[in-house]
Amino acid sequence: MKTEMPSIFSAKRTSFVRTSVIREILKLTVENSDILSFAGGLPNPNLLPKDVLNTVMESVVKENISTAFQYGDSSGYLPLRTEISNKLTDVYWSTPESITITHGSQQGLDILGKMFMDSDTNVLLEDPVYLGALQAFSPYNPNFFSVPIEPDGPDLYLLEEIISQNKIHVFYINPSYQNPSTYTWSLEKRKQIAKILDDNEIILLEDEAYRYLDFSGIVYPSVSSFRKRSDLTFVLGSFSKILSPGFRLGWTVVPEVYRSLFTAIKQGNDLNSNQFSQVVVSKLLNVLDWKGHLYSIQNFYSEKKETLVSLLREYLPEARFTIPEGGMFLWVEYPQVSSKEFMNRCLASGVAMVPGTEFSPTSRSSSFFRMNFSFLEKENLELGVKRITKAYRDINT
Ligand SMILES: Cc1ncc(COP(=O)(O)O)c(C=O)c1O
Repeated sequence: MKTEMPSIFSAKRTSFVRTSVIREILKLTVENSDILSFAGGLPNPNLLPKDVLNTVMESVVKENISTAFQYGDSSGYLPLRTEISNKLTDVYWSTPESITITHGSQQGLDILGKMFMDSDTNVLLEDPVYLGALQAFSPYNPNFFSVPIEPDGPDLYLLEEIISQNKIHVFYINPSYQNPSTYTWSLEKRKQIAKILDDNEIILLEDEAYRYLDFSGIVYPSVSSFRKRSDLTFVLGSFSKILSPGFRLGWTVVPEVYRSLFTAIKQGNDLNSNQFSQVVVSKLLNVLDWKGHLYSIQNFYSEKKETLVSLLREYLPEARFTIPEGGMFLWVEYPQVSSKEFMNRCLASGVAMVPGTEFSPTSRSSSFFRMNFSFLEKENLELGVKRITKAYRDINT
């Protein structure tokens, strides 16, 4: 007897794949250029120092053809790993060999999901949580637990309660200028939580994608840097927010015991990360006035944040938010409206934001919206806030 193939055949794990409304909204905004988008997490491409980039690209084509246009080491291009280890990590066990270059830090999340998560793995998340991490982990259908995040970090009482009642295997965190809330863990909570994780032998996945985007130039020590159990600690970094997402380069600091496994999984993904980007970025890191570059990015984002904050205060004082210390988002609560209706009205009026439900580990409804301020120019930020205000008032009157 012939069995019919279902019209779409796919592995069981695909039923756990989580889709992203953000990508849908981004598609809409690309198709319809009249929509003003506060939705993406897009860095501003004009912040790249073009003259330095030009010189570096030319020199790569002249001097590095055989490396830049060839397959490479699956763990990454050693000069780049050395630069990262020297300039961009703060854990005492970091060496060039401990760094694996990934296709954006997103690939690091994907590899770590594959490496640690099964249906009986207990994974603790922040609530709200970075949606891309949920997308990377969900196919393995682990048991998700979540701890609410306050403006200075996780609710410690609840964290200890969850950990004492359940064997948590993995904790994924984004402690600096978190996406979406922009909340930043205090120094005290970083130290306390590092100790709790050590005491309970919990694997830490620390996502530092926004580490250098503090508006006043502070760089917080990572939670990982306070841990004694370096063998249970992974730190993920990214060039997307400090140079450009176009390079698609990130890295993971991998403990020695896991290095060959991590690299083998990566080989199955892509053999090696983009060699051309790696050579260009390693040279860029060498020649760029790094401190000056970070300073100009931080200033740029800080001014944009000020603009959005003052526009919201002027036009829609009902909107509530905590002023962030860094990053590229405002996490705004719009009280007394149905978030679904509000989002639809906003889209119909030509303005997009991401509803908070998207970032809830349990898809709980939320009155918060994530608003990006780094991408739109000043006039469009104002026009966008006016459209949001009108949509809000149309519902509330
Ligand atoms: C918290 C967080 N982690 C990781 C990523 C992935 O970034 P990339 O793959 O570009 O390094 C993002 C992207 O927006 C992010 O917000």
